[in-house]
Amino acid sequence: MRLAGNHFRGTHLAALRRVERGGRGRLFRLRPWSFRGGPDERSSVTAQLDSMYPTRVDFGTVEEIHRAAAAALPPDVFDFVEGGAGRESTLRANRAAFERWRILPEPMSGVAVPDTRTALLGMPLEIPVLTAPFGGDALFNPAGHPAVATAAQRHGALSIVPEAGSFSYEQVRAAAPDAARIAQIHPFAHAPAVAERVRRAGFAALCVTVDCAVGGFRTRNMGNRFDPDMRHFGGNLTGRDGAPGVAEVFGHLLKHGATAWNWADLRAAAAEFRLPWIAKGILTPAAAEIAAAAGAAAIVVSNHGGRQVDPAPASLEMLPSIRAAVGPDIPILFDSGIRTGSDIFIALALGADAVVLGRATIYGLAAAGEAGVSRVLELLTEELRTLMILSGAATIADIDGSRLLAVRE
Ligand SMILES: Cc1cc2nc3c(=O)[nH]c(=O)nc-3n(C[C@H](O)[C@H](O)[C@H](O)COP(=O)(O)O)c2cc1C
Repeated sequence: MRLAGNHFRGTHLAALRRVERGGRGRLFRLRPWSFRGGPDERSSVTAQLDSMYPTRVDFGTVEEIHRAAAAALPPDVFDFVEGGAGRESTLRANRAAFERWRILPEPMSGVAVPDTRTALLGMPLEIPVLTAPFGGDALFNPAGHPAVATAAQRHGALSIVPEAGSFSYEQVRAAAPDAARIAQIHPFAHAPAVAERVRRAGFAALCVTVDCAVGGFRTRNMGNRFDPDMRHFGGNLTGRDGAPGVAEVFGHLLKHGATAWNWADLRAAAAEFRLPWIAKGILTPAAAEIAAAAGAAAIVVSNHGGRQVDPAPASLEMLPSIRAAVGPDIPILFDSGIRTGSDIFIALALGADAVVLGRATIYGLAAAGEAGVSRVLELLTEELRTLMILSGAATIADIDGSRLLAVRE
């Protein structure tokens, strides 16, 4: 008996190859959950998955996937994903900021097959997209980050593997070695030891989360008395062999940063990293300049999806001034609020080199595991490609500020 997933994988890869060759393959027509054989070919595993994920359908839009995630998750877990800090002004601002920009059409542009390829720190990207590091992934789907990274790999994207995930760095990397190349860490005393561990595991870069000296004031979680099983955050936090334990790391995050680091601490630790590192959580030009001076090879302009300081500026509002401050040479990743292909286009036009998908990835994972994440990536990429054709951007480098119009709300 053949598993449906194998059918899907084969079909999908064939379509991807057609697209790579510039052929007529249409990714968005694929039906991830369709079967070539009759109903008796459905395995018992598939039947079990059906009962766990009743929302497994051929999703037409990211918004459908969002609704499916809401239906699949217990309400307090969905609130943990969906919520922000404080009164959630920043969470709303992250989305609203995209409404202030329009993309200028270019009639008769002559672009038929846009090239979405780019690279980050020497790592090739078929699309300018990375999946975000998020902890507690098995709360959303038992397949967790291995499924996320596998979907990313299928699309030629990269996946940032979190320290507080449900699976170890090594497990995620083994699932998808071409995508799982960046390991996220929190800047505490154990950082150089973690850097050495992930370097040995074959990771090519570190992502240091610099905006999380303490977890934000997450109002929904407090209202829900949210009390997740912390083992879902413990894939790397074993407390064995020099690794920190769950209690140690979350003690820092929850108890107001007992050992909060400053830039000098990070700079000193980074001298031992032996890997390029990316500073994630930069929201001001001043912080971007300091991060670059401290040796960051790239930065992530991010307000952590509105989950830390509230009210903080929207990530998108700060992106142009941060790009201006650091100049053209340092790679800038952008996150917080990306939900559509047009959002990706706008972020790239305002100075980002690639975008990072947080909740959009989680919606796909919760709704349908690897296939759900894959569908999110497929939909966003297809919209981006469409916009590149219609606006005359043949390559990612062609997506610049000249293609946007700023509007008043
Ligand atoms: C449920 C959840 C868990 C997260 N966990 C982490 C984490 O462990 N480390 C980290 O650097 N960022 C974490 N983030 C933030 C994301 O990496 C990313 O910055 C954010 O989700 C981007 O905003 P978006 O969700 O609007 O795309 C988390 C986000 C969510 C929604």
